[in-house]
Formats: sequence, structure tokens, C-alpha cells
Amino acid sequence: MKKLFIIFIYLGGLFGVDAQKTNIAIIPEPTSMSTGNGNFVLPKIINIQTELDKELQSSLSFLKSKLLNSTGYKILSAQKYTNPTIILAINKLANPAINNEGYTLVVNEKGIKVNANSNQGLFYGIQSLLQLLPKEIESKEIKNSIKWTIPFVNISDSPRFGWRGLMLDVSRHFFTKAEVKDFIDQMVRYKYNTLHWHLTDDEGWRVEIKSYPNLTKKGAFNVKREGYFGTFAPTTPDEPKTYGGFYTQDEIKEIVAYAKDRFVEIVPEVDVPGHSLATVVAYPELSCTPDAKNYVVRSGEQIMNWDGSHPTALIDNTLCPANEKVYVFLDKVFGELSQLFPGQYIHIGGDECPKNFWEKTPEILELAKREGLKDMMEVQSYFTKRLVKIISAKGKKVIGWDEILEGGLADGAAVMSWRGEAGGIEAAKQNHEVVMTPMDFCYLDYMQGDAAIESKVYKTLRLKTAYSFDPVPEGVDPKFIKGGQGNQWTEQIYNNRYLQYMTWPRSMALAEALWSPKSKKDWNNFTSKVEDHFKRLDIQDVKYSPAMYDPMINVTKTADGKLAITFSNELDDLNTHYSFDNSFPDNYYPIAKGPITPPIDAFQLKVVNYRGKELKGRIIVVPISDLEKRVSKK
Ligand code: ACM
Repeated sequence: MKKLFIIFIYLGGLFGVDAQKTNIAIIPEPTSMSTGNGNFVLPKIINIQTELDKELQSSLSFLKSKLLNSTGYKILSAQKYTNPTIILAINKLANPAINNEGYTLVVNEKGIKVNANSNQGLFYGIQSLLQLLPKEIESKEIKNSIKWTIPFVNISDSPRFGWRGLMLDVSRHFFTKAEVKDFIDQMVRYKYNTLHWHLTDDEGWRVEIKSYPNLTKKGAFNVKREGYFGTFAPTTPDEPKTYGGFYTQDEIKEIVAYAKDRFVEIVPEVDVPGHSLATVVAYPELSCTPDAKNYVVRSGEQIMNWDGSHPTALIDNTLCPANEKVYVFLDKVFGELSQLFPGQYIHIGGDECPKNFWEKTPEILELAKREGLKDMMEVQSYFTKRLVKIISAKGKKVIGWDEILEGGLADGAAVMSWRGEAGGIEAAKQNHEVVMTPMDFCYLDYMQGDAAIESKVYKTLRLKTAYSFDPVPEGVDPKFIKGGQGNQWTEQIYNNRYLQYMTWPRSMALAEALWSPKSKKDWNNFTSKVEDHFKRLDIQDVKYSPAMYDPMINVTKTADGKLAITFSNELDDLNTHYSFDNSFPDNYYPIAKGPITPPIDAFQLKVVNYRGKELKGRIIVVPISDLEKRVSKK
């Protein structure tokens, strides 16, 4: 027996086999996966067998550079090897068990084989392969001490949805070309295939349009402000408007090509007719309001009122639907965009368009009368229908926020449902394509943890809620649901590190909702994988939120008017320790088992989570007066 064991170890060494058990943490969870007993160990010369297909080169060079940078091994590729380490192959006959984006991945004692029906599928097989390797595979420097093991697996995997998107708002804050590429690099690790690029808004126009140069000359820069967006002081005439930036058309082409190499389609958004202050500043004649010539690109001062069911504007941030110059403008702008972005879709925004200026504009009232439009919703619908015609003539499909349903949906327009699921349900009923981004599950700008320590935004979206997202609303024919996406609005996101923090790990949760079969989703398995991926993000130098480790604080009042505080956790194995004596609690402090009431003179609650002796998450400090307010808010 002993002898046999020694022989096994010897042969194992020869064939690069290792018997150690390794945890498997692939996100999103594959459709089907079985594991074997043992690991393949990468040899110091890695032979990648692959065809010479030109398109395949981007996946091949991606894999080669990942392996080379971290292992420092010799990486070779050719059409044929006697003993290839890795085989990358496109199926000669499509494998019906996987779709066009799917792949199979087999790792055994002979090596690694990735098969797919397309190059895109192969690329996703490579992403899974990288997640099977030790985390140091993400290193940009050679890691000599690592044993490069890959567990034996047999995976057959393909996505549930074809639209797996993240939206990036580069208007509220500008993100450079390098930062956008970085965002794409992060997305594709989780098999996202769509970048919805919010390029224009009240705070900046970010894409060079040759026929309207003022859009970027005047519309791309504002006065820098920091603090809480929406509450900023108005810009004064003497302040320099130098904050912001834009992408030249050459830069756009470079980013589009970069995305294409990684199988990401970019859907550009130019948000009209609302959210258009930067446009109006650049070309005041596109506004209905003569005062527009005095407007400035917004920094974050209050310009809207959100009190009623429909927003009203304090200044007119809309394009004038009764002005023919506007349609000439739209034709030129969307014409240039259609040339720059080779993808199928163009996003026209359409959200939150205030109507209070329109209601008082004689030309618009005349337009409504002439066209038989019964209210301002129908006026917006008239505008949208004309725009859809313009864009369709350029061979593109149109998608817009769910407000484009109001006043009548234009033929052929797809709907992005953000104010909950209702818009998506209605659009699907009308046989239109739908992308689901309901804010309570998909808004990545919402706080992830307790408001006492997060940058304050009006709502919270915890990881567990994001993980519960199902893009197909009940009762809807799934064939109309193209998929879904997470939306990263950047009013409060001032820099790339914070962008990363707000994106991860919730975009891992959404990736699993968009890729994995519902039956494969499992919260406990997911969070244990997220912990593994945190270490991978550390190596990539990508920031993430640890909020899933933080306690959730619930406050009610007892019958005799005392505060009753309870804690709950997203992870089951955490203990919540607290103090009311102003000192910092650690794992020697009491654990709250049931509701606790602050002692009579307590000033603040401090609370923190531990896993056994290990500090997890962050200390949350909440004054008792804030806890009182939390009760009255309920
Ligand atoms: C949106 O969040 N205004 C689409």
C-alpha cells in the first residue's frame, strides 16, 4: 500500500498532478460543474494548442499575458503539440449544450481543455480557468513561490441572459480613458458583456461631436465642488470652469476597440430631452427658454424639485421639442455616435424630463394643438418617436429609460426598467424588448452599509438584496427580457477608487443573477466565494466594500417608550459586539443576543463584528440621538 502511494505521488509529479484539495470559487456560478480528485499543476513550459483564427488571438493573448505576468513561465502557442498544457478550441459543430457565449472547461491529469462555439465563449472559459488558479494569477509581478495548481473539474457553462450590463455615468464625474478601460477589465472577469455608457447629463457632455464643437468646448467643464451633491452652492461668475473632460473621437474608437477585444458591446447614452443642461449651455438656441444663455454647467447645486410625482425644474434643463433645430441637432449627434459605436443599440435616456417650463412655452402649446397631443407626456412621446425614426434610419436600435412608455411607446424601442419592475412588465406586454435595472436591486450608487459610515445617498442596497435580483418579473414572458444591469451613477463618486468600492462586490451578485441558472444560486456559497474574490481584488489593487461584514442596526421602541436595538448580519457566522461607554468594542465586549436598550445617560452606540477572534467589517458609531431619529423614520 505504502509503495503504491509513493508510486502515485511520483506519477503525480510527472504529470503535474497534485492531490491537495482546493476550494473552487467561480463567480458567476457555472451552469454545471463536477469536480475530480486532484489538481493539475502548471509546468514551467506552458504549451497552448490553438487554431490560428484571427479573432481567437485576443483571447489567446489575454491568457498568455495573464500567465506570463504572474508565473514568469515560458508560454508557447502552436496549432499542434503532442502534450499540450492547454487546448483552446472552437467546436467544429456547435455544441447544443451551450449557447453562443457558453464554453466547456475540463481540467484533468492531462491538462486543460477549453471548448466553445464562439471566441466569446472561449474568452469566458478562460475567465473561469483564471478563477480556478491561485489568486496570485492576478499579480502583475512574477510570483516565484506559488505552486500553480488547478483543481480537476468538468464544467459546461452558458449564460441565462444575453444582456449582462453595467452602466457607468461619466457625466456627473469624468473618468479618464484609462479608468474606463480599467472598468471594462473588471467587468469581464465576471462575464459582463455590455457597458452602458452614460455620456451626457446636466453636469457634462463627454463625447466629441465634430458638427457641434461647443458641446465639449463649453459643455464638458464645470466648477469643482466636493461634499453632498445636490446641496452645492451655485457657481459664481468668477469661478474657473476647468473641472471635467471629454473623450475625443479617436479615444472613443480606442475604447470601443478595447471593449470589443474583450467581447463587450458599448451602448452609448445621450440623455434627452431632459438632463440636458450641458447641451443647453453649449447651444442655448436648443432650449425653449431665452434665459438659457445665462446658464452654466451644473456642479451639483439644486436644479430640480423632487417633491411631486413628476420632477419639476428650477432652471430649464431640457431640449425644446417644438424647435426644428433640435431635430437637426439630434440627427447630427446620433449620426456621429452611430459611426463611432458599432454595436446594435443606442440609448436615448428619456428619464426625469421636467415639463413645467414646457407647459408655459407658447411654441410647445402650439405644437401640442397642431399634433393633437393631449398633455406634456404625449409631447415627450412625440419627441421620442421622431428621435427613434432618426436613429432607426441609421440602422440602430433604440433603448430608453422607462419614462419613454409615458404618452405612448415608439415602435421598436426597447425599455430599460428602472423605477421598479412596472415599466418592464408593461413594455413586455406590448411585445417590446426589456432590460431590467430596478433601482431597489440594481442601483450601485446606493449605500451598501450603515448610513452612519457610508457616503450618504437616499437609499441602501445591501449585497444580499442585490443577490436576490431576478431579471424576469412574475407573469412576464421571459422572451422579452434581454437581461439586466447594475447602474453606477456618479453624483457622489468623485474618483476611481470610490467607483471600485461602489461597484464591488454588488456587481458580483448581479453577475450571478444575469449568468447563472436560478437553481444554482446559493447565498452562503456565494458569500464564501466573495471572500475568496476579495483576496483576488486585493492583488489586482481594486477596492471593494466590506459592508457585507457590517452589522445591520434595527431600532424600534418598546411599549414604555425606550429604544430597542437589534442587530442582524448578512453572514451567519459573525458575532456583533457593542459598547455604550464610548470605548471601541472588540471580541471581548458583550454580544447582543436580543434587543438592547441604551443605559440612561449613554451618548453613542459603537458596534462591530468579529468572526471568532478575527475583526470583520468596520466599527459603526451612531449617536443615540440618531437612533431616535431612525425610529421616527419608520
Ligand atoms: C435614472 O435613474 N434617472 C434612470
